[in-house]
Amino acid sequence: MPPEATALPEAGDGPLVVELAERRYPIHIASGLLDQAGEILAPLLPRPLALLVTDTNVALTPHLGRLETSLAAAGIAVRRLVVVPGESSKGLESYGRLVEAMLATGIDRKTTVLALGGGVIGDLAGFAAATTLRGLPFVQLPTSLLAQVDSSVGGKTGINSAHGKNLIGAFHQPLAVLIDVDVLQDLPERELKAGYGEVIKHGCLADADYFAWLETHAAAMLAGDPTLRMQAIRRSVEIKAAVVAADERETTGQRALLNFGHTFAHAYEALTGYGDRLLHGEAVALGMVKAARLSAALQLAPTADALRLEAHLESLGIATDPRRLLNRGFPVDAVIEAMTRDKKAEAGALRFVLWHGIGRAFLTGGVDTAILREILEVDA
Ligand SMILES: NC(=O)c1ccc[n+]([C@@H]2O[C@H](COP(=O)([O-])OP(=O)(O)OC[C@H]3O[C@@H](n4cnc5c(N)ncnc54)[C@H](O)[C@@H]3O)[C@@H](O)[C@H]2O)c1
Ligand SMILES: [Zn+2]
Repeated sequence: MPPEATALPEAGDGPLVVELAERRYPIHIASGLLDQAGEILAPLLPRPLALLVTDTNVALTPHLGRLETSLAAAGIAVRRLVVVPGESSKGLESYGRLVEAMLATGIDRKTTVLALGGGVIGDLAGFAAATTLRGLPFVQLPTSLLAQVDSSVGGKTGINSAHGKNLIGAFHQPLAVLIDVDVLQDLPERELKAGYGEVIKHGCLADADYFAWLETHAAAMLAGDPTLRMQAIRRSVEIKAAVVAADERETTGQRALLNFGHTFAHAYEALTGYGDRLLHGEAVALGMVKAARLSAALQLAPTADALRLEAHLESLGIATDPRRLLNRGFPVDAVIEAMTRDKKAEAGALRFVLWHGIGRAFLTGGVDTAILREILEVDA
C-alpha cells in the first residue's frame, strides 16, 4: 500500500510563471482555456495577427474551432497551417516546407506563431518561429499530456537530423503557454499513458510527496477526472518551470535532472527507430525503471524505491519490461553503443541521472560498466 498521500495545492490559483528575467512568461492551466485564448493573448501579441500551426489529428477535434473562434472574437486575425501528424514532421524537409508556407503568407516580425498540438508541433513550430525572420513571437498551446507537462515549457525547440533526434534546435521561450485540460478528452489512451511517463518523472526527480499523491490519484486522473488532471499538470509544470528558471541553457547540470530515465530511453528509441513502435513516454517509463534499478545496484538508493516505481507503473498498465511491450528485449551491447552515440554523452562519456530514492535525482558521470551491463542483461 502506498503511504498516506499529501494533498496538493488546489489547481487554478492564477497562472504559474517561468522566472527568466526579460523572458519570463505565464503558464495558464485550466478547463475551457481555449475559449478564452483571444482574451488572454490579445494584450501579449505585438500585433493582432497570428499563424496557427497544428496537425491533421488535432484539426479534426473541436479544439481548433474553439481556439479560432476565441481569437476572432478578440480581433486577432489567423492564418492556419496544418502539417501531417507524427515524428516525421520534425524532419528538415517538413521544416523547410513550413517556413516557406509561413513566408508565403507575407508575415513580418510582429506576426505570432501559435503551436496547437503535441510535442511534435511545439518543437517544429517553435523552431520555425525561432529561425524565421531571426525570431518570431511564439505561443504554446499543448494538446497532448506529454506536451502539457513537459515539452511546451522550457523553450527547447528543434527538429531531427539523419544523425539523430533534436540535433537541430534553438532555445526560444514562448510569450505564454496555455494548457487547456479539456483537449485531453480526445487524446488516444496510448498517448495519454505515454505522457504519464513524464508526469511521474517529475515526482521521481524532485518531489516524493507528489509521487505518493500520484500513487493514490493517477488511476482516476488518467480515467478523466479534470480536477486531478489540473492538479497533476500544475505540479509537474511547477517543477519543470523551477528547474528551467534555475538553469535555462542546461549549463549547471540542474536542467539535466529533467532527463531522469532518458539515457536509457533515448537508446531504446534509437534502437526502435523513433516511430510508433515505442513512444517517447513509453521509453521514458522503461528508462526510469532502469535508472532506479541501477541506483539500487550501485547502492546509492533503496531497492524498495525501484520496486515502488515499477509497481506503480504496472498498476496503471504501463509496461516496465520491453519484452512485454515489444515482444523483444534490447541486446546489451546495442544499448550501450546507442547510449554512447547520444548527444547527451559528453566526449563519449556516459552521463546518467540516478536517484538516492524517490524525489532525489542527481547527475553522475562515473557508472561501473559491469553493473550497468548486469542491469541491462535482466531483460535483454
Ligand atoms: N522541447 C522539449 O523540451 C521536449 C520535451 C519532451 C519531448 N519533446 C518532443 O515531443 C515530441 C513528442 O510529443 P508528443 O508525445 O506530444 O507527440 P505528438 O506531437 O506526435 O502527439 C502524439 C499524437 O497525438 C495526437 N494528438 C495530440 N493532441 C491530441 C488531442 N488533444 N486529441 C487527439 N489527438 C491528439 C497527435 O496528432 C499525434 O498523433 C517528440 O518529438 C519529442 O522529441 C520535446
Ligand atoms: Zn522526455
